[in-house]
Amino acid sequence: MENEFTKNIVLRKISINESIPYQLLLDADPSRALIDNYLPTSEVYVAILGDKQVGVYLLYPESADVVELKNIAVDEQYQRMGIGKMMLKDAVQRAAAKGFKTIIIGTGNSSIGQLYLYQKIGFQITGIKKNFFTDNYPETLYENGIQVKHMIMLAKQL
Ligand code: ACO
Repeated sequence: MENEFTKNIVLRKISINESIPYQLLLDADPSRALIDNYLPTSEVYVAILGDKQVGVYLLYPESADVVELKNIAVDEQYQRMGIGKMMLKDAVQRAAAKGFKTIIIGTGNSSIGQLYLYQKIGFQITGIKKNFFTDNYPETLYENGIQVKHMIMLAKQL
């Protein structure tokens, strides 16, 4: 799980007086309205390097058995160094320790790197929320030259 770089990363629940890395949340989800909707009922976890927040993820309980990893982001400067994978594994472990049976995650049809990463961690595609992005986001979004239209849902049994 660790490499020479991620050894220096601390993953922990955000503390009460610490500011939420909102800009990072917007990197994963460009809708402030949606973020503000799920943030109050989510647990916020941060990746810390020295005294800098370099990553964030949110655990949002859907039911007694199912938790959703709603938003995961790494500061652009620190991407592709293993922090995303470390946070995903951490989220899976924490969700299991909390007694959830399933962890789910959703991402855009265009998010090729994310789909690769989530499946590599053991998530399997379970469905598609057709037109989720075109219905919920006012602007037309593009990623990897592909229009972001549908939400691909993935799940991992715990
Ligand atoms: N394209 C191709 N492969 C990728 C990409 C990419 N964009 N990003 C990561 N990978 C691969 C890496 O090469 C690595 O592969 P390996 O294990 O075979 O070596 C693996 O995925 C893990 O990479 P990490 O370095 O651990 O990932 P990183 O720290 O960059 O974090 C993340 C990944 C969180 C997706 C980051 O790129 C990011 O913050 N992106 C912007 C925000 C975002 O899109 N968040 C997800 C939205 S969906 C949601 O929040 C539920």
